[in-house]
Amino acid sequence: MQIIRDVPALRKAMAELRKEGRGIAFVPTMGALHAGHLALVAEAKRRAAHVVASIFVNPAQFGPNEDLSTYPRQEAADAAMLQEAGCAILWAPDAAAMYPEGHGTKVSVAGVSEGLDGAARPGHFDGVALVVTKLFNQVQPDLALFGEKDYQQLAVIRRMVRDLDMPIEIVGVPTQRDADGLALSSRNAYLSPEERTAARALPRALGEAATAIREGGHVREALDAATAKLRQAGFDPIDYVSLCDAETLQPVDSLDRPARLLAAAKIGRTRLIDNLSVLPS
Ligand code: PAF
Repeated sequence: MQIIRDVPALRKAMAELRKEGRGIAFVPTMGALHAGHLALVAEAKRRAAHVVASIFVNPAQFGPNEDLSTYPRQEAADAAMLQEAGCAILWAPDAAAMYPEGHGTKVSVAGVSEGLDGAARPGHFDGVALVVTKLFNQVQPDLALFGEKDYQQLAVIRRMVRDLDMPIEIVGVPTQRDADGLALSSRNAYLSPEERTAARALPRALGEAATAIREGGHVREALDAATAKLRQAGFDPIDYVSLCDAETLQPVDSLDRPARLLAAAKIGRTRLIDNLSVLPS
């Protein structure tokens, strides 16, 4: 696996890889890799001859009071995992290569970026849209894979690719979970053992609400019950527990189309997110 840190070297390596034909799949990450990322790489390998991964902790998607400086960084261990998983190239630019002096362009996806995490983390999805656009232009893959764990991010990227006619297939990969149901996330590393135990309430509360809604239960009541369970487990604040149209992410109050149940809440100092599909029968 080649590790590349500047755009001209990446272009050269990508041109060589492309000569071999047969498709390039791209897995963008911020590092601190876990089995969720490796599931993206495994799916990428099933779908294309070559897999390119990136590691870049993107300052543009962190708010002023968020965890940019403490975000877990472990590039050597990540690189070993990606090599083992069969990646051809690791694209690992530093902030100066990604955002050279004078960088002034913004990318903003209206609508789908605005509620949920977009409301709780102002500017977050503009930062994601900007860096993903840049990564796509740098790597120029045929397809790119993203985890459903960051469901709103996936919806924002799908909309952006469609709106801007980017010639890239976007593939969503189901959330990987620990045995007790907690969604894998690099941020789980922040949890104390007690918080880690309490955090199980998040997938459990969502699972119970999803079942109640699928079985015809009242949506508002199911969302309120899930919120109460999170509060009881020690989550505070609870940013949202919401049922939304699976594509536009507009809130819905009945299950008359494919929907997604999404939640974000803090346990201690760690903000966790999770979501489940809720399909009408
Ligand atoms: O999901 C992530 O790790 C990041 O948001 C992404 C897509 C790599 C953009 O920085």
